[in-house]
Amino acid sequence: MAVMESLFLQATGSSILFGAVVILVVIYFYLSGLSFKEEANEPPGPKPLPLLGNLLQIDLNRPHESLSELAKTYGPVFKVYFGTKKVIVLAGYKTVKQALVNYAEEFGEREINNTFKFAEGHGILFSNGENWKEMRRFALTNLRDFGMGKKGSEEKILEEIQYLKDVFESFRGKPFDTTQPMNYAVSNIISSIVYGNRFEYSDPQFKEMVNRANENVKIGGSASMRIFNILPWLGPFLKNRRTLRMNAEKNKKQVCELVSGLQETLNPEERRGFVDSFLLRKQNDEQSGQKSSRFNQKNLITTVINLFVAGTDTTSTTLRWGMLLMAKYPHIQDRVQEEIDRVIGGRQPMVEDRRNLPYTDAVVHEIQRLANIIPMSLPHTTSCDVNFNGFFIKKGTTVYPLLMSVLRDESQWKSSHTFNPANFLDEQGRFVKKDAFMPFSAGRRVCLGESLARMELFLFFSSLLQHFRFTPPPGVSEDQLDLTGVVGITVNPTPHELCAVKRT
Ligand code: HEM
Repeated sequence: MAVMESLFLQATGSSILFGAVVILVVIYFYLSGLSFKEEANEPPGPKPLPLLGNLLQIDLNRPHESLSELAKTYGPVFKVYFGTKKVIVLAGYKTVKQALVNYAEEFGEREINNTFKFAEGHGILFSNGENWKEMRRFALTNLRDFGMGKKGSEEKILEEIQYLKDVFESFRGKPFDTTQPMNYAVSNIISSIVYGNRFEYSDPQFKEMVNRANENVKIGGSASMRIFNILPWLGPFLKNRRTLRMNAEKNKKQVCELVSGLQETLNPEERRGFVDSFLLRKQNDEQSGQKSSRFNQKNLITTVINLFVAGTDTTSTTLRWGMLLMAKYPHIQDRVQEEIDRVIGGRQPMVEDRRNLPYTDAVVHEIQRLANIIPMSLPHTTSCDVNFNGFFIKKGTTVYPLLMSVLRDESQWKSSHTFNPANFLDEQGRFVKKDAFMPFSAGRRVCLGESLARMELFLFFSSLLQHFRFTPPPGVSEDQLDLTGVVGITVNPTPHELCAVKRT
């Protein structure tokens, strides 16, 4: 019923429109054929209904939870139908790792669904083949050159932390929503690597850019966009679809303006960031007459937008889960602060302190494990026919690696469903690496910004905890803090306010 409800809420008109939609759905399915095409030896799965497939068994507002439930019945490789669209779901540490790492080529393509078609195959996130390979390789090399995961980004993060602390302090211990300041701070890290400069939090252009990216991540994974992926012709009736398109156009325009500003002042002797490197490569290819060069304007703009969106919401959302979890579990916050005070004292925490802060490190990992912000990863597709674990999966089939089922795999964790830093500690309190820690996914498509994200999470988290005590607003008990989360492309904490009380 969530399906109909969502369609209904999104449609702009009245019941007449709804009636028209129902008729069109019937005609569509009639014309496109009602059969669910089965190959021999496909993975098992619940029986699909005509037209709807398994939609009645999947809560489109929280599909990862429905799929995790179905995995209990159908096993680690199973098949579901979103409408007439077949999806193979991979569940559990062993299976997800085996598919993404041992069958990296076969499971390594991106599914470009209707929501993300506007990228037109450019950039990294929603691109495949040679274009993806070249853009990903170029981005990795150049982001590293500009300090990603190294000393260069550490300095940028430490500088940004000072600005963020000032904002938190300005609330003087009163409750506030951490979303915007956290987004702005994190966004400035990727901005300084990509553009070569940070932005003021009060800069209206920057605020719009970050807020739009945030909105896109929210609605890009909404139930109505999931329906749109199954029934693309519903697009014009869906408000979320219109917003997403409008935001995409505005983003493009704004990034184009920023890029042309950098183009005007481009100096080959002094590259300021990723955009300069790209522009110089583009210029070089043009001058040497390389007609088939992929270093063109469309790839530049799309890659920059990809890095900005992927590099902002994910890290910021994880940090907001972190603050919320600290407010909810004050005894764990006590232990983090005791460790930071004992080992670091009042000076700024640095990356190299991490190995001397095993409890804090374990807490950061546990936040990522429990927050589970991209529970189904991003959709993959098979690049060829695959025989996997005794099942046949046809080329071009959509695949969801259920990262949530890895991060909560009962065979891999001491306590898989509760917040417990002991999941990453041995008996002596030393930090232990876990193979099933897979919030960044694995294999060919593994998160490109993992090293940067890990550095940001540790530095922001330890610095904030060093300076502030996070508590629920007055009158709200720890038990009342809600950990349900709101599902978009990432799972965000349910809107809430916290107090950041300055520690003395
Ligand atoms: C806590 C922070 C982050 C988490 C949990 C995270 C997680 C992920 C996940 C699950 C994927 C999809 C992998 C797959 O398809 O299997 C991904 C892809 C990606 N991430 Fe991240 N990410 C984070 C931060 C970042 C940052 C800071 C950047 C910026 C440099 C970034 C850039 C990307 C890009 C460009 C891709 C697409 C990779 C491809 O398709 O080849 N991410 N990330």
